[in-house]
Amino acid sequence: MKTGVVILAAGQGTRMKSALPKVLHPLAGKPMLQHVIETAQRLDPETIVVVYGHGGELVRERMQECDVEWALQAEQLGTGHAVQQAMPLLREVDQVLVLYGDVPLIRASTLERLVEASAETRMGMLTVELEEPTGYGRIIRDEYERIIRVVEQKDASAEELHIHEINAGIMLIGREELGQWLAEVRNDNAQNEYYLPDIIPMAVGEGHVIASVHPDDLYEVEGINDRVQLSRLERVYQSRQAESLMRAGATLIDPARLDIRGSVSVGQDVVIEPNVILEGNVELGDGVHVGANNVLRDVVVGSGCRILENCVIEQAIIGQACQIGPFARVRPGTELAERVRIGNFVETKNAQIAEGSKVNHLSYIGDTTMGRDVNVGAGTITCNYDGAYKHRTLIGDNAFIGSNTQIVAPVTIEAGATIGAGSTITKTAPAGKLTLCRTTRQTTIANWVRPTKKRENH
Ligand code: UD1
Ligand code: CA
Repeated sequence: MKTGVVILAAGQGTRMKSALPKVLHPLAGKPMLQHVIETAQRLDPETIVVVYGHGGELVRERMQECDVEWALQAEQLGTGHAVQQAMPLLREVDQVLVLYGDVPLIRASTLERLVEASAETRMGMLTVELEEPTGYGRIIRDEYERIIRVVEQKDASAEELHIHEINAGIMLIGREELGQWLAEVRNDNAQNEYYLPDIIPMAVGEGHVIASVHPDDLYEVEGINDRVQLSRLERVYQSRQAESLMRAGATLIDPARLDIRGSVSVGQDVVIEPNVILEGNVELGDGVHVGANNVLRDVVVGSGCRILENCVIEQAIIGQACQIGPFARVRPGTELAERVRIGNFVETKNAQIAEGSKVNHLSYIGDTTMGRDVNVGAGTITCNYDGAYKHRTLIGDNAFIGSNTQIVAPVTIEAGATIGAGSTITKTAPAGKLTLCRTTRQTTIANWVRPTKKRENH
């Protein structure tokens, strides 16, 4: 069976009150439409067609990377009309799965169940029982509990409005029949729209039994119309992710205060303190401890590392048993080997630092290759930029850099060199020697007196 997926995303989304099309609003850091596309991809369909609306060019543009086809619905004439726009792109498939671009938390496993349940009947839909069904299309069943039609809120009789089972909107239909039925759908209803569910009585008339499947939870079929709903589904999504991290062996001190915007893998016994944001691809090895208020973006952290509070770490590889922070900024291209220490108010960028080296306080290490067991004193700056070009600093194994040193690149500090505090290094510092550079020798003025305030008479 070849499946084609249609994702309806032509709605205006006016209640978002936004210049950005609704389906591009991010959920966990990526457009809600992308969540739906990625879920659809997990079913391995023949093709995915996104139906976009007038003014939705931005949607196409932003989703360029996604392997989908596009069908324009210039006027929003209803869900049936929307699906019809995609039909010319679905000639190769046997069945069509209809999803909504603004219903982002649908699970692939639920869709798989729908596909299975509909295998014989060639037609199935997701339905749920809602305590408060207002606004939704109600499911009408016959005396044998078979679905016979859906009635929209605005078209429903007082009696029908009492029905709590609703159409979640997600349907699976045989492609050939769908094409025939859609051509017969009319818009003589309260909204003058071509309703997709109006194909149901046609199917029933031709002897189809319509399978109904329920999602695992209601959030799966909840649509986003405004930012209140967006924030609610964001929390739901975050708690699903937090749960799976905990099941994978991480301790989250407060699962409600972790935000994951990307994909995270954890080893055993990872501990994450509150207020942490993990973005992009983050890998945390066994026993990693992430302190409070950290932001990690595209980072690999080796086992046994401690990330102390309040760091921002981005596009970096951290070796095993390192300690970073508190208050460190580790920028792109930083690669730390084992047991490196990056302390408070230290910034690193494009710096490879070998095992056991320490940059503990108030330093900037950029465009630098540093050997092992180097000790960098407080206030050391690699002056890597001459206003036009960036230059590299090389620091050999076991070097000792005194505090308040400026290292003007390109320059080499050889293995075992010691740099006296307060130096400005512009030339090679030879191996094993003390190099220092101060403009004056220290002097003491013998009969200097510290000024004092005169006593005043009152
Ligand atoms: C629809 C269903 C209703 C169901 C509800 C579930 C119909 C007629 N009604 O109602 O039975 O209970 O979803 O949420 O199908 N869209 C387009 N083009 C259009 C109209 C809609 O692309 O011309 C898209 C929207 O962007 C949205 C989806 O289809 O993603 C559903 O549209 P919406 O207006 O929310 O449908 P409802 O009328 O709420
Ligand atoms: Ca809706």
